[in-house]
Amino acid sequence: MKHLEKQSFSILKQSKSLDKKSPIGIFDSGIGGLTVAKKLHMLLPGEKIIYFGDTARVPYGTKSKETIGLYAIQITGFLARFNPKLIIIACHSVSSLGTHFLEKKFKNLHFIDVINPSIEVAVRTTKNKKVGIIGTPATISSNRYPQLIRKIDRSIKVYQQPCPLLVPLVEEGWTDNDVTKKIIEHYIEPLIRAGIDTLILGCTHYPLLKRAIRKVTGNSVQLIDASDVTGMKVKNFLAQFALLNNGGLKKPVLYFSDLPENRKDVMRRFWKSKNLIFKKVNIDLLSVF
Ligand code: DGL
Repeated sequence: MKHLEKQSFSILKQSKSLDKKSPIGIFDSGIGGLTVAKKLHMLLPGEKIIYFGDTARVPYGTKSKETIGLYAIQITGFLARFNPKLIIIACHSVSSLGTHFLEKKFKNLHFIDVINPSIEVAVRTTKNKKVGIIGTPATISSNRYPQLIRKIDRSIKVYQQPCPLLVPLVEEGWTDNDVTKKIIEHYIEPLIRAGIDTLILGCTHYPLLKRAIRKVTGNSVQLIDASDVTGMKVKNFLAQFALLNNGGLKKPVLYFSDLPENRKDVMRRFWKSKNLIFKKVNIDLLSVF
């Protein structure tokens, strides 16, 4: 429970000018973390969101721990310039490394990952104590999910499945066609045969495949989506330290390390809003951190 206790934020770290009006930083390897950012914006529209998607270097989930860790440090260094009151690691592949290495390097910053909120809900949801997890190869090989679940309830059986093809499909916009369905069946059917009643979507890209996943699992399996569960964790954290910004609607600012023009429309359609500010960051500038 040690890690979960750390996530309960009993102490607010010292920071020079942390106040309600400070932004919330959110990052992912690409567009997947927008699933978390959008839900957060709907829940807390007065919060200033600064998103970073590392679209020039996606995918992370097939890379080594060392590389993923280095990218996460570079991005956090970039977001730290905005003096955020909180940073959300909207990437399970980074979250699977834990938050300690970022907390050690950025002592004044608070982090919320996407793994702990998903686990807390999954443990409460499963009735037959059989939980499935789909994620990137990095997330699954870290064994972070089974380790943390076991700390809460040893009797839960965890069935894991790496799904390396799903992130490229989402980045291509192939979210619900026959090819995608076949690939999802290939990955998920062994978990269904094992009898899971709860499935954690262990990658922030996967909520974009929810409809296709649902067709394979049917309605008897509960899907746990980090984008649904992380927002409440953030709200509780901000409320606990009187840091909620209830001011007027803010326009999210979305930074990307690569930003082809046609991608902006895809993101506007996903967000169902034209009120997004897009910015491109030169990847070479990130490497100075
Ligand atoms: N969306 C990220 C995750 O949650 C990363 C996917 C990737 O870049 O491979 O794991």
